[in-house]
Amino acid sequence: MYTDVLIGLQWGDEGKGKIVDYLANHYDIVARFQGGPNAGHTLKINNETFVLHTIPSGIFHANVMNIIGNGVVIDPITFKKEIDKLVALGVDVKKNLLISNRAHLILPSHKALDAASEAKKGATKIGSTLRGIGPTYMDKTGRNGLRVGDILLPDFKEQYNFLKEKHYDILKQFDFTPEIEQIEKDWFEGVEVLKQLNIISTEYYLNEALKKGKRVLAEGAQGSMLDIDFGTYPFVTSSNTISSGACKGLGVAPTKIKEVLGISKAYCTRVGSGPFPTELHDETGEELRKLGHEFGATTGRPRRCGWIDLPALKYSIILNGLTQLIITKIDVLNTFETIKACTDYKVNGKITQELPYDLCKETIEPVYKEFKGWNCDINSIKNFDELPEELVTYIKFLENYLEVPVTIISNGPKREELILPKIHSSNLINS
Ligand code: GDP
Ligand code: IMO
Ligand code: MG
Repeated sequence: MYTDVLIGLQWGDEGKGKIVDYLANHYDIVARFQGGPNAGHTLKINNETFVLHTIPSGIFHANVMNIIGNGVVIDPITFKKEIDKLVALGVDVKKNLLISNRAHLILPSHKALDAASEAKKGATKIGSTLRGIGPTYMDKTGRNGLRVGDILLPDFKEQYNFLKEKHYDILKQFDFTPEIEQIEKDWFEGVEVLKQLNIISTEYYLNEALKKGKRVLAEGAQGSMLDIDFGTYPFVTSSNTISSGACKGLGVAPTKIKEVLGISKAYCTRVGSGPFPTELHDETGEELRKLGHEFGATTGRPRRCGWIDLPALKYSIILNGLTQLIITKIDVLNTFETIKACTDYKVNGKITQELPYDLCKETIEPVYKEFKGWNCDINSIKNFDELPEELVTYIKFLENYLEVPVTIISNGPKREELILPKIHSSNLINS
């Protein structure tokens, strides 16, 4: 059996949580492979809203095993809050959640380092979620990190203090006085919660499960344009958000990956700093933010909004080896007379579909193709063949330009608000 990978194709918040929650029924295991509590994955089930940060989005399916892979970074404080909420809702986390002993821990001092680094950068700050993500991955690659498996060792407290002191030395150089002691208590309480759950070598579990014929869905966080290698560096996150990140973040070999499902909004958003060629600073941008409720699920910050950016999307699709495209938030465009899609970039007077090496340094003028809006409510539509003609034209254009089939369209935040293709239905999920 194979692993399918689901990733965001833009700058995050494409609707991964909603789609994973829907697809989870078709899988035995859902596994997060990177990122940490910088992620905010929203699920709307029976008029209730849940935002997951570290826990995989298959958690509300009692028959699905959820795995937090080795590539994830865990903040015990956020983690405990999530677990407490799930337990209150009756989710059996002792039964359907496994945590990799190799996942790294976010210390309170990592969060202080994140804040200090951002403060020092001033106007050039990344716009980090300040969840300690960058400093934790730095300690991972610097070989200083603490891992979940370490919490079971007798000298864990000493290891913790050693790393904390190291961070304090760095913070002194930033002239930054952390107020860590107050939250340390919560942190260790979170560690106790972690200890009561199933901490294992998830790479063995996953590979054994695949051997037995179990179906695995790897859930990405953030989006491809925030990838540490291929995103709009330095305005990126600190992990590999693209599909290949699933291999190293779970211990599943490339030969075990099959479908790669990528999600794009019908327009584009970004939260935090960094280049965004199709960003709209006008009424249309405001309209998208208002209609799409574009405010961060983790930080509550307003998201920057703009038209869909096809050169950037094409880049993501190539990097991910995409086999299926999922378009979300199509309903947000219901009332627009005209819809635009950026097909090319004009860089230094030259038309190109290729992303420049440094999007930050180039002046990019987006070239748009206009589409007639469908101007009707499509929220109750369930099948592709019921779609208004204008929307069909738009989707067909996307498929041709991006050279990948659109297999799901999402037309509302709720679990069941989806349009599925009759024509593709047999190969929607191949695993
Ligand atoms: P994620 O990080 O990729 O899981 O996405 P977020 O949860 O951060 O942001 C997506 C937001 O859009 C959430 O508020 C979802 O409830 C909402 N959403 C998801 N799909 C749709 C859709 O098709 N239509 C509308 N209107 N909202 C959606
Ligand atoms: P989900 O999984 C949107 C952005 C931050 C910032 C940059 C670096 O919900 O799609 P970090 O805290 O990682 O150091 O921040 O990345 N960012 C996200 N933007 N969705 C996310 O996750 C994000 N996770 C990080 O806003 O610009
Ligand atoms: Mg999000």
